[in-house]
Parts: sequence; C-alpha cells; structure tokens
Amino acid sequence: MTGIRSRIAIIVGSARPVSIGDQLGAEIARVVEASSDADVRTLDLREIGLPMLDEPLMAALGQYAHAHARAWAAQVADADAVIFLTPQYNGGYPASLKNAIDYLGAEWRGLPGAIVSYGGRGGPLAADQLAGGRRAA
Ligand SMILES: Cc1cc2nc3c(=O)[nH]c(=O)nc-3n(C[C@H](O)[C@H](O)[C@H](O)COP(=O)(O)O)c2cc1C
Repeated sequence: MTGIRSRIAIIVGSARPVSIGDQLGAEIARVVEASSDADVRTLDLREIGLPMLDEPLMAALGQYAHAHARAWAAQVADADAVIFLTPQYNGGYPASLKNAIDYLGAEWRGLPGAIVSYGGRGGPLAADQLAGGRRAA
C-alpha cells in the first residue's frame, strides 16, 4: 500500500547528559513504528542545544531572528503530530522543554500532541503542567 506517511516527532525533553529520556524515546519510537506506518523522528533537545530563549520578538509574530530558532521552527513545522516525552523535575516539566516550547508560536497551534511523562514517582505533575500550558491565553 502506498500513501503519505504521517510524520510523528518525539520531543525528548530532558537535556541532561545522562538521561533515561534517550532510552524511553527510542522505545516509544519502536512501538509507534511497529504499530503504524508513521515516519517517526526524534527531536532530542540536548542535541538540538537551543540557548535560553534569545529571540527579540514574540514568537507569535513568527519572525525568528536566529538560525537556531528557524531550524527548530522548521523541525516542528515538519511534524504532523508530536509526542512530548518529559521527566518530572521539582513538580513540573523541565526548563529545557519549556524553553523549547517558548521559542515557537504558530508551529504549535493545532498540532496534535500526546504527552508521555516519567519520573521518580511517575511524573504526573509534569504531564499536568504541560497539558495545562495548552490553555495559555
Ligand atoms: C532536577 C530534578 C528534579 C526532580 N524532581 C522530581 C520530582 O519532583 N518528582 C519525581 O518524582 N522525580 C523527580 N526527579 C527524578 C526524575 O524525574 C527522574 O530521575 C527521571 O528519570 C529523570 O529523567 P532524565 O534522566 O530523563 O533527566 C527529579 C530529578 C531531577 C534531576
């Protein structure tokens, strides 16, 4: 069967050099690939290496000044859906993931997403916080 394959991006939210997120991301990719014909790509925030948000204009304007912001925007815009993989740090999701989200505006709007959280006690607060961010005014 031929057709257009959905592009699913797994955003690995931990930027720690020794992170279980890499392994979890690989396992999620394996499961999604095995159960669909989706084109799965992993966006590892440690590898992407965004600096703390340094764009002069609001993301909502979509006028990114820096090459790293444009490259990140292009990677997210190229996905049909995203899976946010997030650890729980101090009752929420990590600053690395918040920073990556804050970089962009229109790229997130209407983009189907799922959240997978983990942590010392399962990471429910990280998932709740991240889901709540969708209601941002
Ligand atoms: C800065 C920091 C804060 C953490 N806070 C929590 C927490 O609030 N609740 C929890 O259950 N685990 C917490 N943990 C444990 C992590 O969720 C757990 O070690 C997780 O596997 C780390 O993911 P990573 O290896 O992908 O960075 C914390 C870990 C770190 C590094």
